Amino acid sequence: MKNTIVTLQKAKNGGHKISMITAYDYSTATLIDEAGTNCILVGDSLGNTILGLENTLAVTMDDMLHHSKAVARAAKNALLVVDMPFMSYQTSVYDAVFNAGRLVKTGGAEVVKLEGSAVLPQIEAIVSAGIPVMGHLGLTPQSVNAFGGFKVQGKDLDAAQKLLADAKAVEAAGACAVVLECVPAKLAKRITEALKIPTIGIGAGKFCDGQVLVWQDMLGMYGDNVPRFVKQYANLNEVMATAFKAYCKDVSEGAFPAEEHEYDADYEI
Ligand code: KIV
Repeated sequence: MKNTIVTLQKAKNGGHKISMITAYDYSTATLIDEAGTNCILVGDSLGNTILGLENTLAVTMDDMLHHSKAVARAAKNALLVVDMPFMSYQTSVYDAVFNAGRLVKTGGAEVVKLEGSAVLPQIEAIVSAGIPVMGHLGLTPQSVNAFGGFKVQGKDLDAAQKLLADAKAVEAAGACAVVLECVPAKLAKRITEALKIPTIGIGAGKFCDGQVLVWQDMLGMYGDNVPRFVKQYANLNEVMATAFKAYCKDVSEGAFPAEEHEYDADYEI
């Protein structure tokens, strides 16, 4: 059954955990959708995972639309959440609504995700336009330079209280859920209890209403080189590297293609 923002709210109300996984292409998204995840996130993490960039700052609206369109064709049951890229919404309320609209109309987004608490008017305006918004607080990667690196947020009491207030403000602005990234588990618990809307954690511990992971991290695409909060469910790095090497060896040794890979025809030429 198709997941909607109502499904997410019902899950929180009923004490059921919400799952979200990133996807950036049709074939991976099809597997993720068929696995039964509640939400698929076309994250601007595609800057790192797909485009090989160091961070998400250079990701454009065109990048997001390109990947979102592909994933939307696969998201039969999962709710499709799409990130608004850096500078597509910070610049003005008009830009925010205009670009959120493009992600819905062209990209197939069902929810758009915005980072930070400095964009409350943008969240209100997008929600007023009929587009559900997911907030994103804590370690918001689009602010990496302001943070001076990828660091756990809310580590002292003042910072924790500010994050709690920010989460309440994002909820009051109309967000349907909020991602909490890299914050202490006890803070995520406090925020989760304080909010009516669901919290979805990444590096935020077990008390959140849901969890999200980047698929390349959870399937071991980078070997063991992953953050502490990632659980690895496979080692695709090894599986894929072995397969690619075997193919190259077969081709260089003439072992592939074999007769069973050839087409025949009824003539002599
Ligand atoms: O871009 C992304 O993949 C994200 C998740 C890490 C939450 O925002």
